[in-house]
Amino acid sequence: MIDQIKDLKKEIESTEITDEDSLETFRLTYLSRKGKVQSMFGQMGKVPKENRAVVGKAMNEVKQLAESRFQDAKDTLNRREDQIFSATDDITLPVAPAYTGSLHPLTKTLNEMKQIFFRLGFDVADGPEIEDDFHNFTALNFPPDHPARDMQDTFFIYKSDDDSSEDLVMRTHTSPVQIRLMKDTPPPIRSVIPGRVFRNEAVTAKSYFQFNQMEGLFVDKKVTMGELIETLVMFAKMMYGTDVKYRVRPSFFPFTEPSIEMDVWWGSEFDGQWLEILGAGMVDPNVFESVGLDPEQYTGYAFGMGVDRIAMLRYGIDDIRTLYENDIRFLNQFSA
Ligand code: DAH
Repeated sequence: MIDQIKDLKKEIESTEITDEDSLETFRLTYLSRKGKVQSMFGQMGKVPKENRAVVGKAMNEVKQLAESRFQDAKDTLNRREDQIFSATDDITLPVAPAYTGSLHPLTKTLNEMKQIFFRLGFDVADGPEIEDDFHNFTALNFPPDHPARDMQDTFFIYKSDDDSSEDLVMRTHTSPVQIRLMKDTPPPIRSVIPGRVFRNEAVTAKSYFQFNQMEGLFVDKKVTMGELIETLVMFAKMMYGTDVKYRVRPSFFPFTEPSIEMDVWWGSEFDGQWLEILGAGMVDPNVFESVGLDPEQYTGYAFGMGVDRIAMLRYGIDDIRTLYENDIRFLNQFSA
């Protein structure tokens, strides 16, 4: 009997009471009329007379223990509630507004773009914002003094008078990272490369001296133009919905042959018009040669997307400059 009482005592001591439910369970298990304490007293009849005094004392101690544990736990829980509301609190008062900040629309757009390409099996790479002439131009099949270099109004960090191969530039596009990837990694390569680029251009609602691109490069054996277009169309549908209105046009870039551009229809609320969102094409054999890959063995496609344009279309932003002014009234519209 004494052992049973000791066990019950241990049980009561080790029961955890953390909330109203466990408090009620405790009360039912130990303190109710059919509870364990009461049924313990019920067994008193079996105890030989000479032991009753000792056993009775032990039983009373267990009963007191159960009662005091119950009362202590109840007090603690009540106190916790008092801390949440006291009678003098007005819980209908509006709380002070908390400004939590938000992701920049460019970051949001870029995250979505990356997610889409993760699903298509691409990984993410990056490269430096200051480039040498080789990576930004020459390896991409822009010959020295070729007029195609004028397509990209360049900010020079260093410009040599007689040897352009020594020039250092703020990269004018993310395409130089294609060259770095192909030099470093044997095919297959399937990467997207987001990053900031710089152009010495007149600032208008549609163009800025810095903006963001996301380059894509897929190099393997037997990559086709059909796969390129399929990928771009899938991207447009995942970004803007399956009813997106798009068109693909032939174009020219020195580093792709053939080359294309893709436009997306810019909703009529902003005087409907086509907005170019990317350039793309099949990697030019000269580019493969500049990185030491055999163009007879490998084929590939590349694309360069304008992240700012894509964000503007996504959120109905009609002036690229708002993306860089960090006006809090503009940025707050993207918190959610
Ligand atoms: N680099 C080009 C630009 O900045 C965009 C581009 C066009 C990237 C075609 C590509 C490509 O990878 O294949 O205008």
